[in-house]
Amino acid sequence: MSNVFASKHPLVAHKLSILRATSTEPQKFRELVKELAALLTYEATADLVLKPRKVNTPLGTAQAYEVEDEIGLVPILRAGLGMVEGVWELLPSAEVWHIGLYRDEKTLKPVQYYNKLPVLPRVSMCLILDPMLATGGSATATVDLLKQWGVKNIRFVGLIGAPEGIQALQSAHPDVPIHLAAIDERLNEVGYIVPGLGDAGDRQFGTG
Ligand code: PRP
Ligand code: URA
Repeated sequence: MSNVFASKHPLVAHKLSILRATSTEPQKFRELVKELAALLTYEATADLVLKPRKVNTPLGTAQAYEVEDEIGLVPILRAGLGMVEGVWELLPSAEVWHIGLYRDEKTLKPVQYYNKLPVLPRVSMCLILDPMLATGGSATATVDLLKQWGVKNIRFVGLIGAPEGIQALQSAHPDVPIHLAAIDERLNEVGYIVPGLGDAGDRQFGTG
C-alpha cells in the first residue's frame, strides 16, 4: 500500500479521537472535521511543485516561491462539505467543484445526483474531500469522473478508511494517493466502518 498514507501526527490522533466519540455534538464535530481536513491537506500537499520568483523585502531581494499547481477541491456531498473550509484556509485560491453522491442503502453503490464540473478542467490537480472511505464506491466513482473530465493529478483526502475501501480505490486507481487520519478494522454488514465514527453526514448536519 505504497500510495496510502495514514497520518502519524499526534494532533491528528488527538482530534480524531474526540471526533469519534458518540458524545461529540454536531458543532464540535464540524470544528474537528475542518481542523483535521487542514492538517491532512498539509501532509497531502508536501510535494507540491514550486515556481521560483523574487520578492523585494524592506532590506533587499529574497528568493521566493509560489505553488505552480492550480488546485481544485472536490468535496463529495454531503459529508465532504465540512472539509472544504479547513482546506481553503491553506489554499485560498483553490476552486471548489461539488459532486453529489449518496450510497444506495441496499446495494451500497453510489448514486450521482449533482455534478458542478465545468465542460473543461481549469485545474491541474484535484483533491477529493470525503471523510469516509467505506466500500470505496463513492471515491472510485469520483475519480472516474475527474479522469473522464481530464484531470490527471488526483489525490484523495479523507478521515477514516476501511481496508475494503482502500483496496477498492487502490485497485481501480493505483495512481491516486490516499491520505487518511486512520485506517480502521473493517466494514460491518451494512457497509459502515467499524469502529469508525458513525454517519459522517448525519453527525455534521445533525440529521441522525
Ligand atoms: C458517505 C461518505 C461517503 C460514502 C462512503 O456518504 O461521506 O461519500 O458514504 O461510502 P463508500 O465508500 O461505501 O461509497 P453518504 O452516502 O452517507 O451520503 P451523505 O454524505 O450525503 O450522508
Ligand atoms: N458513510 C459514513 O458516513 N460512515 C461510514 O462508516 C460509512 C459510510
